[in-house]
Amino acid sequence: MQANITGEGTVSSRIDPALIPQRTLYTGARMPAIGLGTFGSDHVNACQIAEAVEAAAQFGYRHFDCASVYGNEAEIGGALSEVIASGVKREELWVTSKVWNDKHAPEDVIASCEKSLADLRLSYLDLYLVHWPFPNFHPPGCDVTTRSKDSKPYIHADYMKTWAAMEELIKRGMVRHIGTSNMTIPKLKLVLEDAKIRPAVNEMELHPHFQQPELFAFVRANGMEPIGYSPLGSPHRPERDRTPEDTSPTEDPAILRISRRHGINPAVVCIKWAVQRGQTPIPFSANPRNIFSNLLGVTGDPLTDGEMREIGALDRNCRLIKGQVFLWKERQEWEDLWDLNGEITPA
Ligand SMILES: NC(=O)c1ccc[n+]([C@@H]2O[C@H](COP(=O)([O-])OP(=O)(O)OC[C@H]3O[C@@H](n4cnc5c(N)ncnc54)[C@H](OP(=O)(O)O)[C@@H]3O)[C@@H](O)[C@H]2O)c1
Repeated sequence: MQANITGEGTVSSRIDPALIPQRTLYTGARMPAIGLGTFGSDHVNACQIAEAVEAAAQFGYRHFDCASVYGNEAEIGGALSEVIASGVKREELWVTSKVWNDKHAPEDVIASCEKSLADLRLSYLDLYLVHWPFPNFHPPGCDVTTRSKDSKPYIHADYMKTWAAMEELIKRGMVRHIGTSNMTIPKLKLVLEDAKIRPAVNEMELHPHFQQPELFAFVRANGMEPIGYSPLGSPHRPERDRTPEDTSPTEDPAILRISRRHGINPAVVCIKWAVQRGQTPIPFSANPRNIFSNLLGVTGDPLTDGEMREIGALDRNCRLIKGQVFLWKERQEWEDLWDLNGEITPA
């Protein structure tokens, strides 16, 4: 397959995967410090994303962030089997998937993982995440006002039943690591107290306008790796995930200034900052040039300490993925999902 996905011409360069920075997890396993996101934001279809995965692997990516709810794991599985057939060993790849919110019942966790493995054509996953801590179904593509009549808040005892099933996946050899996503410090504290197998990562929104310094520090201090989603501020996210207050890190004057200084795209400044700060960004792209530039950005020519400080000062606490559909009762604000006062928001 050609790396020509968008008709903008092929990109034939390749980066040696050995040059890509790695994160060492508490198990000693090494995870590439940049991955390719695979959520098409409702406008890039499954086949285009499978092509992006294959192109990315040719460029040197070895880390892929997947999820059952993205609706494209079967197509990505086809791409991954091509990648492996081309000579990349399975153990060189880092493949993540996630259990969706309507599959939190322990038997559903196991079945959902089995389905992701079958779709991805793999015998194990490197990482399996609980996608959101709320067991609420809402239809794909629904708008922010949609509420499920069965919506529930975070109930720790229920989450731990889900987590026990996640632990069982490790015991069965179906996954190598388990982790959390969209969590808060108070929720993570409880999970860390009660887990038999601790989360290896927490996947969270992270970009220059939403740096989450307390959660970022907490995650690292507790032996987890922060994986940063929407590292570019998700410029093409669906309409339902936009509000008038949202800001765009790739349009920030300081990011633009730094990008001009280095002769790179502002998006690549965000990626460099993320990797140098210590998180693992998982930028999505279906454009081979962007896929390649993002990877090239993490090898060589680092940002200076002064530039890192300058970007560190850009935080606007601007959460873009607010999760409104997870609210569990009437007249709630999305902030309730994120335990802003340091306690789990009461039911
Ligand atoms: N755990 C969770 O709950 C959760 C939530 C959200 C996202 N995620 C994961 O995180 C991944 C990334 O987040 P995201 O997709 O929301 O947003 P993002 O990675 O911040 O932004 C992706 C967008 O940026 C553009 N882009 C990428 N590289 C570029 C470059 N070098 N120059 C200019 N534009 C560039 C892409 O357009 P082109 O295609 O045109 O390049 C794409 O539309 C997702 O795909 C998914 O895997 C996880």
